[in-house]
Amino acid sequence: MFDIEVKYGGATYRAHGERGALARAGNILRAAAPDARRAVVVTDEHVKPLYLKALAPALKRAGFAVRSATVAAGDEAKNFAQLADLYREFAAVVVSRSDVVVALGGGSVCDVAGFAAATFKSGVPWAVVPTTLLAQIDLCLGGDVGVDVDGLKNQVGTFHQPTAVIVDGELLATLPAKHLSAGVAEAVKYAVLGGEEAFAYLEDNAPLVMRAGAELDAVVERGLRYKASVLASSERERGESHLLNLGRTLGRAFESASRFALSHGEALAVGLVYTGLLAELRGEIATEAVIRVAALLRRFNLPTYLPTLNLDKTLEALVAGKPTAGGEIYVALPRDIGQVVVEPVAVRAVAELLPQIHRLARSMA
Ligand SMILES: NC(=O)c1ccc[n+]([C@@H]2O[C@H](COP(=O)([O-])OP(=O)(O)OC[C@H]3O[C@@H](n4cnc5c(N)ncnc54)[C@H](O)[C@@H]3O)[C@@H](O)[C@H]2O)c1
Repeated sequence: MFDIEVKYGGATYRAHGERGALARAGNILRAAAPDARRAVVVTDEHVKPLYLKALAPALKRAGFAVRSATVAAGDEAKNFAQLADLYREFAAVVVSRSDVVVALGGGSVCDVAGFAAATFKSGVPWAVVPTTLLAQIDLCLGGDVGVDVDGLKNQVGTFHQPTAVIVDGELLATLPAKHLSAGVAEAVKYAVLGGEEAFAYLEDNAPLVMRAGAELDAVVERGLRYKASVLASSERERGESHLLNLGRTLGRAFESASRFALSHGEALAVGLVYTGLLAELRGEIATEAVIRVAALLRRFNLPTYLPTLNLDKTLEALVAGKPTAGGEIYVALPRDIGQVVVEPVAVRAVAELLPQIHRLARSMA
């Protein structure tokens, strides 16, 4: 069980984690939003039959009038048509600032529900009940929300901090294994950032972690505590938040170059290995440390190299990530497990090294 204070984006809120928290979500939310009248739950068509029937009565018991809206499952939730439907639902029940939108779902639901809450009537409160590992361990904190435009991911977005975050490890029992693995890529990222103890814990407990029990709860708590601490320090020093982009800078470029054939988690896994190899070729990290990261990712059925590297499309995507006037991008580079620094790297240098990195990754797989 945990209760983590999050200070970010001018807001302070708590992330409460506990097995069985769904049944107590009303009381937890009531403590964070004492005057709210209604809870408008946004969920998706897969999650609704699994968990709305437990969440709705819990909210009612705490005095919330409950409404719900359902979006399509997965990335289909994040298009303009779904967003417009949500606005219509909000307008029909006259959602106001004295209500709270509750996102019950994975990253896709959190993105569209959070974005709708951020923009409807210039912003209404929202809370998060994440149901995937990716959403529980990472994206439920920080209020980064957005939707896709014509299949282009996360093109329109904003920051809208939630009022409360309620994490229930039991909800992961129904999550398909491939989505669980995708979330574990974030856990590996946090372990590389966190240090030897966190990394060895994942190595020692890999099969147990995949059973989504107490061992995974511990990993989620560790990840959230790490993210909350980085968010709190990046309030003062924005550059710090780039640490959380470990593996993501390259990962996002691979995801985009694959036209999203790679999932976010798979792309992150490959991004962690390729970023490690980038650091290794720059003489900054021992090969053994990179091999260790790749071996751990493989134990969770995550890919560690790309079947084909589309260099042009990858560089195009990297450049779309806004390089500096000098043609550099900021990359979180590991020097060892638990030692990561953010440095500017010339896109040209990445372009020159990527084919070699790709060959090394293939030989290690
Ligand atoms: N805003 C951010 O900071 C941020 C960061 C990373 C990723 N994302 C976005 O998150 C999205 C991916 O999110 P995700 O990986 O959480 O997946 P998801 O929300 O797309 O869900 C994946 C699938 O699992 C189902 N599902 C969810 N919870 C379930 C449960 N407990 N039991 C059974 N099925 C369940 C969903 O219905 C869906 O079919 C992408 O759109 C990505 O762009 C956003």
